[in-house]
Amino acid sequence: MEQNQRASITGIGSYLPGKVLTNYDLEKMVDTTDDWIIQRTGIRERRIVENGMVTSDLAVQASNMAMEDAGVTPKDIDMIITSTITPDYFFPSTSCQVQHKIGATRASAFDILAACSGFVYALSVGQSFVNSGTVGTVLVVGAECLSKVTDYTDRTTCILFGDGAGAVVVQKSQTKHEILSTTLHADGSQWDSLFMQAGGAKNPASLESVQQRMHYIQFKGREVFKSAVNIVTNMVRETAVKNNIELTDIGLIIYHQSNLRIIEAVMDRLDLPMDKTFVNIDKYGNTSSASIPIAMDEARKAGRLNKGDILLLVAIGGGLTWGVSVIRW
Ligand code: UT7
Repeated sequence: MEQNQRASITGIGSYLPGKVLTNYDLEKMVDTTDDWIIQRTGIRERRIVENGMVTSDLAVQASNMAMEDAGVTPKDIDMIITSTITPDYFFPSTSCQVQHKIGATRASAFDILAACSGFVYALSVGQSFVNSGTVGTVLVVGAECLSKVTDYTDRTTCILFGDGAGAVVVQKSQTKHEILSTTLHADGSQWDSLFMQAGGAKNPASLESVQQRMHYIQFKGREVFKSAVNIVTNMVRETAVKNNIELTDIGLIIYHQSNLRIIEAVMDRLDLPMDKTFVNIDKYGNTSSASIPIAMDEARKAGRLNKGDILLLVAIGGGLTWGVSVIRW
C-alpha cells in the first residue's frame, strides 16, 4: 500500500501583511487613477510590508499555518524550498532563514528562482524528491516582498505588485491532494521582457546603478501580456491532452494572479466560464511566486475545492518561465 502513495499536498497556509495600499493611495503618488488600474488590471488594492518585516518573515507565517494544517512540526520537515525573487539577502538563501526561524533543524534548504512561475517550479522539485523516496516531508514556499523592488515613481509598474506568502507541505498520502503531474517550460530569449537590471554580476550595485534606478522591476508589459495569453492558453490545452482529461472535467484553474484581463482572455479562448477559476488579484495585486499558494489557500477556505476535483495551478513569469501542476483534490 505504502508504495502506491504519491506526493501530495497535505497542508496549506498563507499570510498577507496588514498594510493596505489602495489605488487611491497610488493616485497620490503617480499620475494614475483607480478607474485605469481596475479597467487594465482588475487590481483594487495590494498588501505591503512595514516595520522591518522581510520575505522570510512572511514565509515563516505561511509555513507555520501549512505545518499546522498538515499536522507536522518543524522537526518533521526534511527539506525547505522557497521560491522568491525578493530574497532577504543575495545569499544565503531565504530557505535557510526560514529553516532557522521555524527551527526545522533537520531540514536541507535552498531557493528556486523562476519568477512568477517559481511556486510551480518549487512544487515540482518537492514532488520529485518525495516521489523518489529521497525525503519524506518537504515545505514548499512562495514568498515575496515586491514592494522592496518596486519603483513607486513608475506608474507602469508600481500599480501591479504586492507582498505576501503561501506555503504547502508535500508528503506521500493516501487521503490528501495528490500531485498528478507537473510540466515546466522556459524561453530564455525573452529574458529582458521582465527583469531587474542591476545587483547581479552583469551590473553590480554601484552609485550609478542606484542613481539610474536599475534595482527595480522593469518590464515590457504589452509584450508580456500577449505572450502570457497565448502561452497559458496552449499550456492548459496541452495539459488536458497529456493528462487524458477534457477541459470540462477540470474542477478549478488557479492562475498566477498577474492581470484579470489575461485570466479572462485565457478562459474565453478555452471556452470555460469564469466560475471555473479563482481570482483574488483585486485584493493583493501580483505577488509573483506567492500568488498561487495564497489563491489555493483562499479557494479551499471559500469552499471552491471539493474532494476528487481536478485542480490546475498555472503560472507564467520572468525568464520567461511557465508551468502547470495538476492536482486531484
Ligand atoms: O507576473 C508576470 C506576468 N505579468 C504580466 O503578465 C503582466 C502583463 N502586462 C500587463 O498586465 C499590462 O500590460 C499592464 C497592466 C502592465 C499595462 O496595461 P496595457 O493595457 O498593456 O497598457 P499599456 O502599457 O499599453 O499602456 C496604455 C497607456 C499608455 O499611454 P499611451 O502611450 O497610450 O498614451 C501608458 O502610458 O496607458 C498609460 N499608462 C497608464 N495610465 C494611467 C500606463 N500605466 C498607467 C497607469 N495609469 N498606471
